[in-house]
Amino acid sequence: MQHDKINQATVFVIFGGGGDLTWRKLAPALYNLFVDGYMPERFAILGVGRKPIADDSYRRRLREGVDEFSIGGKTDQQSWDEFAPHIVFSKADLNDPQAFDGLAKELSAYDETWGAKATRIYYMALPPSVIKPIAEGLAGAKLNLDREHARIVVEKPFGHDLNSARELNRLLTQYFQESQVYRIDHYLGKETVQNILAFRFANTLFEPIWNRRYIDHVQIAVAENDGVGSRSGYYEHAGALRDMVQNHLLQILCLIAMEAPVSFDSDEVRQKKVDVLRAIRVIRPEQVHQNAVRGQYGGGWIEGGRVRGYRSEPGVAADSATETFAAVKLYVDNWRWQEVPFYLRTGKRLPARNSEVSIHFRPVPHQTFPASALLDSRPNRLLIAMQPEEGILLRFEVKHPGQSMALAPVMMQFYYREAFQVRSPEAYETLLLDIMKGDSTLFMRADQTEAAWGVITPILEMWRSVRPTEFFNYQAGSWGPEAFDILIAQDGRSWTLPTFLQCREDLAICRVAREPME
Ligand code: BG6
Repeated sequence: MQHDKINQATVFVIFGGGGDLTWRKLAPALYNLFVDGYMPERFAILGVGRKPIADDSYRRRLREGVDEFSIGGKTDQQSWDEFAPHIVFSKADLNDPQAFDGLAKELSAYDETWGAKATRIYYMALPPSVIKPIAEGLAGAKLNLDREHARIVVEKPFGHDLNSARELNRLLTQYFQESQVYRIDHYLGKETVQNILAFRFANTLFEPIWNRRYIDHVQIAVAENDGVGSRSGYYEHAGALRDMVQNHLLQILCLIAMEAPVSFDSDEVRQKKVDVLRAIRVIRPEQVHQNAVRGQYGGGWIEGGRVRGYRSEPGVAADSATETFAAVKLYVDNWRWQEVPFYLRTGKRLPARNSEVSIHFRPVPHQTFPASALLDSRPNRLLIAMQPEEGILLRFEVKHPGQSMALAPVMMQFYYREAFQVRSPEAYETLLLDIMKGDSTLFMRADQTEAAWGVITPILEMWRSVRPTEFFNYQAGSWGPEAFDILIAQDGRSWTLPTFLQCREDLAICRVAREPME
């Protein structure tokens, strides 16, 4: 993940070049990499799609995407004029094997012009159902064979369940070596998610207490205030467990729970992560109701505006059983984590967009202070805030000023935006650059995707076999269904609601004041 400029000539072949992902994510990321000087001198972006689009119109469309979605702001005319000629569009029927011979010729033409063999990145910005003909087409035209220069990128959802993920892995590895396959989980490209590794393994302070002896439990939360938007076609068949828990939340869990890698070699890091997934205790069918909660939002209010319920969203069935909220309790059965619960939760139409990991330490083993001093005391807590704000906060006890002995919790806080005055790269920028460099550390290996499906399969199956009778069961703008509180309350614990949001109200006060109530 060293972000130095790449010299290797590169062609991005984007299947689904006319689609939403290219417009919203890929074009802004590639443009920002270009502006920041990371793109090689010789590169091309070749959008491939079913409907013909003239190069000029295609460039205009991508520019609109950059202007609307880039975190780096709008395009500037000079940079765009330099960037745009690298973009071309090619119409192709992906079910027609001959289309791939045409593609092979186009790619060879680049090699000839550049006088060098270019890296070819085949990006599947399309639903999984069309990956098969594309992989076969690429193989038919021998575009898969060069292990060094040919790479294939696959987006989530990576399969629909364990069997379909295995099927997809079999298909990909039939034509490509594992080292050529880049499975994207965009959370792994997020700066703060990567920072979990730095925080854990570049500091001596925390690793000795990062275990069951000192940690009581861990909470991983990814809350969104958006609804399903225009993605109901996909989401109706996915739901929160598949859409978020199987990938993003489990990947974060892996980074929190993994053993120290021997080196930062991509296979070493990924091996340590897959070890965690394999150690997650299997939830038996009869245990699902005690360890997992699902919910679906009804109408409500978000940030002062009225929003509709999930079942009234366009394209959603009036009796939809799809969950828009999921909370799960997991255990990692190994020496480090035995009997330490990991509570994961995610949902749409919650009060705020907020992702954080909260590490709750055990209370002190013996109370030195009299009961009267402890009225407000709480165990240590470490908070890794991922979005919208990025930072690390540590709660510890101090003596409250005054003549009597009373303890009070305070927060020590680090915020990225204050400590570093630079823009953090967007996840896709990091991931696209890593693909160009051939660094797969931040991508999912085949066995990781399968192990992650293995973790959630019993819950998926139980939820499929027992139709929810209580949906909708939380109002848009609330933190989730009632059963969600019970999931953790039955263990004598409570959910941590976003600390940062409460702090943000007044950062200055929060810095010196006591921690807000949970
Ligand atoms: C995607 C999910 O993978 O992640 C979406 O499919 C979700 O449903 C999105 O909204 C959240 O990503 P981020 O980066 O906005 O937290």
